[in-house]
Amino acid sequence: MSKKVVILVGSLRKESIARKIAKICQSFFSEDFDPEILEIRDLPLYNADYDNPDETDFPLPEVYKSFRQSIKDASGVLFVTPENNRTIPACLKNAVDVGSKPNGDVAWTNTPVAIISHSVGAMGGYSSQKNLRLALSYFTMPTIQQPEVFLGHSNQLVGDGQFTKESTTEFVSNYIKKFEALIEKNPKA
Ligand SMILES: Cc1cc2nc3c(=O)[nH]c(=O)nc-3n(C[C@H](O)[C@H](O)[C@H](O)COP(=O)(O)O)c2cc1C
Repeated sequence: MSKKVVILVGSLRKESIARKIAKICQSFFSEDFDPEILEIRDLPLYNADYDNPDETDFPLPEVYKSFRQSIKDASGVLFVTPENNRTIPACLKNAVDVGSKPNGDVAWTNTPVAIISHSVGAMGGYSSQKNLRLALSYFTMPTIQQPEVFLGHSNQLVGDGQFTKESTTEFVSNYIKKFEALIEKNPKA
């Protein structure tokens, strides 16, 4: 059976470059994997009352339950994100937070993770990726130290369902291969 990989996209807009990169990445996975974009747009802003069983005014949203289960069921998670004001977009941080609770049942635990950041500027979402790595460092998540994937001038890199440069295709597809190897080496119980 193919291994499920969840892809989280840090942008909500329809024409998002991050989403286009995520779709290109989907095509790089081998047939042993089943990569799917998991939507984060409908997750309500995290409120700890949702996870408080004594708090009856805030029942746990169904989308929280299904999001957490999808992360738990995934063999790996790939983040593809832009940068907003030198950090990760709020929608993505919210998804990280939703997956991080309740204490003792953290959805991220033991999930292999890969990260791709992009920017229309030169720096490829450097601060965004570093901030995301900082947030995820709180969880037990096997990851790839090298290479780090920062895609600068991303508006010029993304064409019609593929990268415009062979060097980018090679670099990112090799990263996905490395991610597959990381998943193989770190199966979740
Ligand atoms: C609120 C906001 C803040 C932004 N801040 C940054 C930033 O700090 N660094 C950067 O490189 N680009 C920044 N940008 C530009 C985005 O990288 C650019 O809009 C990108 O295309 C958004 O990603 P998407 O195409 O995946 O939606 C910002 C854009 C917005 C809307």
